[in-house]
Amino acid sequence: EMTGKCPFGGDRIGGAVGTPPALSDWYPNRLKVEQLHQNGPSANPLGEDFNYAEAFNALDLEALKQEIKTFLTTSVAWWPSDYNNYGPQMIRMSWHSAGTYRIADGRGGAGEALQRFAPIDSWWDNGNTDKSRRLIWPIKQKYGSSLSWADLIVLTGNCALEIMGFPTYGFAGGRHDAWEVDNSTYWGPEVVHDLQKADSPDSMVNRDKRWRGQNGDADYDLENPLAASHQALIYVNPEGPYANGDPMGSARDIRVTFTRMAMNNEETVALIAGGHAFGKSHGMVPAAEIGMPPEIAPMEAMGFGWHNPRGKGNAEDTMTNGIEGSWTPNPTQWDNDYLTNLFKFEWEQTKSPAGALQWTPTDPNAPKTPDAHIEGQMNALMMMTTDIALKVDPEYRKVCEKFLGDFDAFTQAFSKAWYKLTHRDMGPRERYLGPEKVNENDLLWQDPIPLADYKMIDAADITALKESIMATDMSVSDLVYTAFSAAVTHRSSDKRGGANGGRLALAPQKDWAINRRTVPVVAALRSVMDKFNDEQKADKKVSLADLIVLGGCAALEKAAADAGFTTAVPFTPGRRDTTQELTDIEMFTWLKPVADGFRNYLDKDFDTIAQGAAPEDLFLDKAQLLSLTAPEWVALMGGLKAMNANHDGSAHGIFTDRVGVLTNDFFTVLTSMDFEWKKTDAKGMRFSLDDRTTGKQRFTATRSDLIFGSNSQLRAVAEVYAGSDGHKRFVKAFVKVWDKVMMLDRYDVKV
Ligand code: HEM
Repeated sequence: EMTGKCPFGGDRIGGAVGTPPALSDWYPNRLKVEQLHQNGPSANPLGEDFNYAEAFNALDLEALKQEIKTFLTTSVAWWPSDYNNYGPQMIRMSWHSAGTYRIADGRGGAGEALQRFAPIDSWWDNGNTDKSRRLIWPIKQKYGSSLSWADLIVLTGNCALEIMGFPTYGFAGGRHDAWEVDNSTYWGPEVVHDLQKADSPDSMVNRDKRWRGQNGDADYDLENPLAASHQALIYVNPEGPYANGDPMGSARDIRVTFTRMAMNNEETVALIAGGHAFGKSHGMVPAAEIGMPPEIAPMEAMGFGWHNPRGKGNAEDTMTNGIEGSWTPNPTQWDNDYLTNLFKFEWEQTKSPAGALQWTPTDPNAPKTPDAHIEGQMNALMMMTTDIALKVDPEYRKVCEKFLGDFDAFTQAFSKAWYKLTHRDMGPRERYLGPEKVNENDLLWQDPIPLADYKMIDAADITALKESIMATDMSVSDLVYTAFSAAVTHRSSDKRGGANGGRLALAPQKDWAINRRTVPVVAALRSVMDKFNDEQKADKKVSLADLIVLGGCAALEKAAADAGFTTAVPFTPGRRDTTQELTDIEMFTWLKPVADGFRNYLDKDFDTIAQGAAPEDLFLDKAQLLSLTAPEWVALMGGLKAMNANHDGSAHGIFTDRVGVLTNDFFTVLTSMDFEWKKTDAKGMRFSLDDRTTGKQRFTATRSDLIFGSNSQLRAVAEVYAGSDGHKRFVKAFVKVWDKVMMLDRYDVKV
């Protein structure tokens, strides 16, 4: 019957795409498989053919930097610069762009300019960075797609430092912008938080959700993988924990959060003391009067948030964080005044015009600092509780004292720490573009792999090496397991890990329980390597890293042949071996898996069904960090199970009697109604697959296996590979995703 009514239900709202309630409201615990497809090619207006490296390399970096520097000292009327210099404001934008990085999962960081999108664009801590980005829009517009936002944000920070007399260590381009909000990163458990102000009573209560113990207790710690003390902040509350003005408590929070960003005591002091040599804090208006952040501001604000109704709403009336004032008498010049004054004077607690807690020198004769806008007005110096923290904490104090006595050492330390901060999530140096990148092996955080001084193996060598490998007594299953174990540490977030470097044979990876199976395989491959390299007359060599991957490829060709498919598994040589000295053991420990359903691995702390952290959720997280699509994830799982890639010799998920043959048995069993699935423990962590006719147990499984049949999206893919025409398609898909995983870290050959 035709009613002629509006298709969206007439007078009611509802029916338009995305209108709540949504799936996640009805089924909050459902596995969000669609996370794998976020920021995919369909979101990218530049298209898959666009080659950013080529475009970036074609631009004149020196000319671009000159334009940025000219802009920095050219004030515009809609947002006048403090001290006639946008530098400090831009340094804060860059620092906040990079400062979201955390070591536990490698997410966050400056790499994709996620500061443009929710929720980061609307965090209280990013107040007025919307202005900073809009101020540099004319430069972004001029350079278009050959300069990503992510690169421009970091480069502008560098230019700002340089015009104020600071020698930067280097700059590399090569960051690819994201094109949609990042839904996959966990930013903390707080559901209710006042989007306007981080210190609201609501968020103060919620702060406790991410912390264990009390500040000061021995077990005081922050929930992983988080690195911020508080929802909507980059690091810590400048007024101290709970805005309580306690410098020592503040130092503890700083240490936890900066360590989570991979910074040690010296780097932490260098960054904070270095950054606060510049600019000022803004706190002229009570937070309650400030408008909504960008994500929920009125449409006519056009992406701007935090409308300030008082006076001019900017310049001398600016309100950003709430604290007011500058740390030094000369906020647009690199000097040692921050530390000098911090130590020379006693500081007492005062309040800003906005009501925030801050510190002022007790000595009325302490130097003053010029107002950022009002000609001739001099103001008292300011310190935040987080600044006083550097003076009271014994370890930070030692570093401060060293820097106080040695300005060059301070300059050098800040220079290197800034480079690390802003480049930390870029991955291998092969991703670094432009004439200002630094090419030394001495930056351990880059996970260096020395360049090859020998000739790579050719096609004939590869064939011969495959034969040598298959002539050892290593099984197909062990060879595949080893290659996979080498490659699977890669994470697309900060692009660390992977097979290149041969770090599977180095500490800490060689000692992980999950890698025990690889130890004899690595030893056997090493013999093959030694023999081959000894026989070479010219300066040709094969690396262990290449051999580990080649072993897996050779084994898979046999596994496919045994299943009736003649397939060439792609292999791209060129991996190099690195050394133990060039491997930061502590930092590589963060790559140790928590959950890896491919290898039936689950950290014992996670052998439970905690909300959002059930084994299948953690497995999805792993798949996302490997940048797998849902079809790729499913195919990879099926193939590895056919190869029996379980780390512990268990039979969970090995739904086949022909281990080592590339069958699609995993999928036919998973989708077959011949079985009855029963949990074998109270929690429902492990399962028995019983034959419905005989009642006998046929196979066993974990949650990470059965999720591919129980989740509707994963099952839809599994059905394709289980279909009568599915085997061939599966073999093809598996070989393709295998190669993708082996090549994840090969930025030396990828565009
Ligand atoms: C400004 C806090 C570390 C660079 C500010 C402001 C706050 C703050 C509250 C004032 C924002 C405003 O109202 O305009 C902190 C805290 C830190 C920290 C709590 C860590 C404990 C850093 C680091 C850097 C940095 C590591 C850079 C390396 C700056 C700069 C400004 C600034 C340049 C001045 C911005 C301007 O003049 O507009 N910081 N900061 N800060 N911060 Fe930090």
